[in-house]
Amino acid sequence: MRILAIGDIVGSPGRRIFAYTVTRMKQKGEVDFVVVNGENAAGGSGITPPLVDELLAAGADVLTLGDHTWDQKEIIPYLNKETPVIRPANFHSSCPGQGWITLRLKNATVTIVSIIGRVFMQPHDSPFHTMDKILQKKSELGNIILVDVHAEATSEKVALGRYIDGRVTAVWGTHTHVQTADEAILPKGTAYISDLGMTGPKDSILGRDVDPVLNRFLTGMPSRFTVAKNSVSQINGILLDVDEHTGKARSIKRMQEVMGEP
Ligand SMILES: [Fe+2]
Ligand SMILES: [Fe+2]
Repeated sequence: MRILAIGDIVGSPGRRIFAYTVTRMKQKGEVDFVVVNGENAAGGSGITPPLVDELLAAGADVLTLGDHTWDQKEIIPYLNKETPVIRPANFHSSCPGQGWITLRLKNATVTIVSIIGRVFMQPHDSPFHTMDKILQKKSELGNIILVDVHAEATSEKVALGRYIDGRVTAVWGTHTHVQTADEAILPKGTAYISDLGMTGPKDSILGRDVDPVLNRFLTGMPSRFTVAKNSVSQINGILLDVDEHTGKARSIKRMQEVMGEP
């Protein structure tokens, strides 16, 4: 089974390149299942119900979120529906939505978990202990377990990857918007990468216009971080080849494509 995981979609440029690339890959049969992080899909901040539907129609099977989950309030009731969009599992238990989802496909049962880090981030429940709790339900989760760890620090992501190595199919990082080159199959068989990178405008600072971000660094004054508008976009992610009988990853390959606006 070929699984594509795509990093944070930033604004309309990210949505366009995602739709252009992933719809074609699915039509050609190059990928069977697609997970995408959609936390920056709505103008860089959060996601709305129509944008969830747009990304699902473009080929996403499951959407994960992160620290921008609550930026667009309209998404809150949507998170409690049957829609395959999940927020970090280690948010407080009273928060709307679910932290993982199990889907029964033709040849396999797949669980996708969203989890958020705590280093240089807000104080959430422990991602390590939350993963332990989720993995206790192993019989309900199926063979293939995919984990999006949305975190700032590579140390925390590598540590979580090592902690659940052999217990899940794959762990990939999101949130930094910069793809790392450390993809590997860990010693106990879990596929791992510290960050997928982002999907959006290339000539930018992490998908945002350069000037407002620079201005904040130079002056300390607040400014609105608008999504960059330029004609070149990038799509970043990984392609996993997974044995659906054992749930083990056979390979992990980085994907990074740059193109003019489709
Ligand atoms: Fe984030
Ligand atoms: Fe992000």
